[in-house]
Amino acid sequence: GAPVEVNVSKLEPGQLVRAEWRGKPVYVVRRTEKNVAELSNHEDQLRDPNSEEPQQPEYTVNQHRSIKPEIMVALGVCTHLGCAPTYRKGDFEEVVEGVTDGFFCPCHGSKFDMAGRVFQGVPAPTNLAVPEHSFPSDDILLIG
Ligand code: FES
Repeated sequence: GAPVEVNVSKLEPGQLVRAEWRGKPVYVVRRTEKNVAELSNHEDQLRDPNSEEPQQPEYTVNQHRSIKPEIMVALGVCTHLGCAPTYRKGDFEEVVEGVTDGFFCPCHGSKFDMAGRVFQGVPAPTNLAVPEHSFPSDDILLIG
């Protein structure tokens, strides 16, 4: 399939837009500064905090699992059985103490952080997959 363009210049901190790439939903989020800071505060609760399992391109193997720390790019497809995880903005602390925002799968309760990293003790076996992506310019994200 052809690459998909997303203009990220108008994305507010905390805002999520859905793109579609090869028939799959892609979540693009502008992380808040707090989101980026909090990536460090729960790594002991994650199954694969350093993304050692290959669910993503090599150049996104870092703490935020993306090219730019402030832009999250991940497939909106739960790695358990494929449901769409819900973006829990502002009330994720009901799910994981001390973490403001994250993703919760309504099907069987899998939990993911703002880098798409899966928490321990849930059915999803791996982090959310990250598609190939690049930034041909500051404003334009190219998926695929
Ligand atoms: Fe997401 Fe089962 S499909 S937890």
